[in-house]
Amino acid sequence: MKYLPIITLDGPAGVGKSTLAKQVASILHIAYLDTGAMFRTLALRLGPDAAKLPDEELRERCRGFRFRLEGAGEKSVLLCNGEPVGDEIRTEEVGRLASRLATSPIVRDALKSAQRALGESTSLVAEGRDMGTVVFPAARFKFFLDARPEVRGLRRFRELEARGEKADLAQITEMIRQRDDMDRNRAVAPLKPAPDALIVDTSDLDVEGVLRVLVDAVAQPAERILEEVRCPQTSKAGERDAAFSHMGADGAIGMVDVGEKNVTRRVAIVRGAVEMNAHTLDLLKRHALPKGDVLVTAQVAGIMAAKRTAELIPLCHPVPLTYADVRFEVRDEPPAVLIEAETRTNDRTGVEMEAIIAAQTAAATIYDMCKAVQKDMIIRDVRLVYKSGGRTGTFRREDAGETSC
Ligand code: C5P
Repeated sequence: MKYLPIITLDGPAGVGKSTLAKQVASILHIAYLDTGAMFRTLALRLGPDAAKLPDEELRERCRGFRFRLEGAGEKSVLLCNGEPVGDEIRTEEVGRLASRLATSPIVRDALKSAQRALGESTSLVAEGRDMGTVVFPAARFKFFLDARPEVRGLRRFRELEARGEKADLAQITEMIRQRDDMDRNRAVAPLKPAPDALIVDTSDLDVEGVLRVLVDAVAQPAERILEEVRCPQTSKAGERDAAFSHMGADGAIGMVDVGEKNVTRRVAIVRGAVEMNAHTLDLLKRHALPKGDVLVTAQVAGIMAAKRTAELIPLCHPVPLTYADVRFEVRDEPPAVLIEAETRTNDRTGVEMEAIIAAQTAAATIYDMCKAVQKDMIIRDVRLVYKSGGRTGTFRREDAGETSC
C-alpha cells in the first residue's frame, strides 16, 4: 500500500488558488486536484434544475460520474467518465450553477467520497472550499488563501480578458461577492479556514510572494532536520580524527578535474529502507505521529539535501540537478518504509552521490519524525540500483529488489 501525503488549499473564488496549487504540486511532483472543477462538471452535466430532483434520483445521477486524476503538477488532468474535463466548465455562469449545486448535501457527499478516493490513490495538492475542514481533515499542511473582494474581482477580470472573453469588472466583482455569500453561509461544509490552517491574505502579494510563503511553510520542518544532518554533534573530542584514520599517511586528498569529460545526460537511482514495528507504521499511515506528516517532510528533506550534496561530501563536484525526487512505498510485512531517490543532470559527472544523500536524508527524517514512539528503527540497505550516462555507461544492480516505489 502506498502512503500518500495531502496538502490542502482552500479559499474564496478568484483568490488565485488554482495557479498556486498547480505550482506547489509541480514543485513537489505530486498531483493537483481542482475540486471546483468537479462541482462545475456536475453542474454543467446535470443542468440548472438538478437541485430540484428528488433525493434518490439526484443520488443515482451523482453515482454516474467517475472521476480519475492523471499526471502531476501543471500537467495534472482530471477525467470524468474517461474524458478530460475541458474549458467548457470555466464560465462564470457554470461557476454560479456550481455554487448553487454545492449547497446540496447529496452532491457534496458524493463528491467527498470521490475526492477521498482520489486522495487514497495518489499524493495531492487539493484545492477547494472544504478540503482542510471536511474532506481531508488529517492533512498535514493546510492553507487558506483570502483577498479583498475587489482584488479578487480584478484578478478574475484580467484572467477572462487574457482568455479573450468579454467581461465587466463591476459585474464580475458582484458575482464573486454573491458566490462568496453562498459558499460562506451554506449549512453543509461552508467556506471557512480549518482551525489548523495557515491563513494567507494575498491581497497585496503577487503569485511569487504567496508561493514563497506556502513552500517555506512546507519546507521549514525539513530545513530544520537538514541542519541537524549537516552539523552532527560529536560528543568526544577526537572522534572525527579517528573516523578519518583510513586516509593515506600524508592525509592527501584531491578533487578530480572533470573539465575534459563529455557532458551527457546522467541519472542515478538509490534505494533504502527504514524498518520499524507495525505500531509505528500504523501511526505513520494514519498521520497520527506527534511531529506531523512523516513522508511529505521526508520527501522535501531528501530533495533539499540532494541539492546540497557538494556542501556535505568533501570531494564531490557541485552539479546542477535538472531533477530530484524521493518516492516511498509503505510495506506492511515486514513493516518498513521503502525509499527510492532519483536524481538527474546533464553534466560531466554523475549524480549518484546526490541520490545517496537524498535517500539517506529522507531515511534520517523518517527516523526523526517517528523516534518519539520507537527508538530501535533500523535504516538499512541504502544502495545504488541504477546509474546511466558518462564513460562507464549504464549500471543496473542485480539485487535491486522487486519493489519499485
Ligand atoms: O473553485 P471554483 O470557483 O471552480 O468552484 C466552483 C464552485 O464550486 C464554488 O463557488 C463553490 O460553491 C463550489 N465548491 C465547493 N467546494 C469545493 C470546491 C468548489 O463548494 N471544495
